[in-house]
Amino acid sequence: MSASCCRMTRCECHEAPFSEVLDYAERTGIEDFDRLCALVGCGQTCTACHGDLKEYLEENLATAGVAA
Ligand code: FES
Repeated sequence: MSASCCRMTRCECHEAPFSEVLDYAERTGIEDFDRLCALVGCGQTCTACHGDLKEYLEENLATAGVAA
């Protein structure tokens, strides 16, 4: 079983898909993680999505390095 099978794909608390955060980051150029979460409206409650969302953004953003 690969680790990727158990990753979250959205912020459950705010029903925000990680792809929505990625789209926002790509459109705006904002890569600061906390700022992205605040602006998109995710990751503000239990924070369980933070680890997987950071990995997702790091793997998918064209420019490397999302500031944690
Ligand atoms: S799952 Fe993202 S804040 Fe709870």
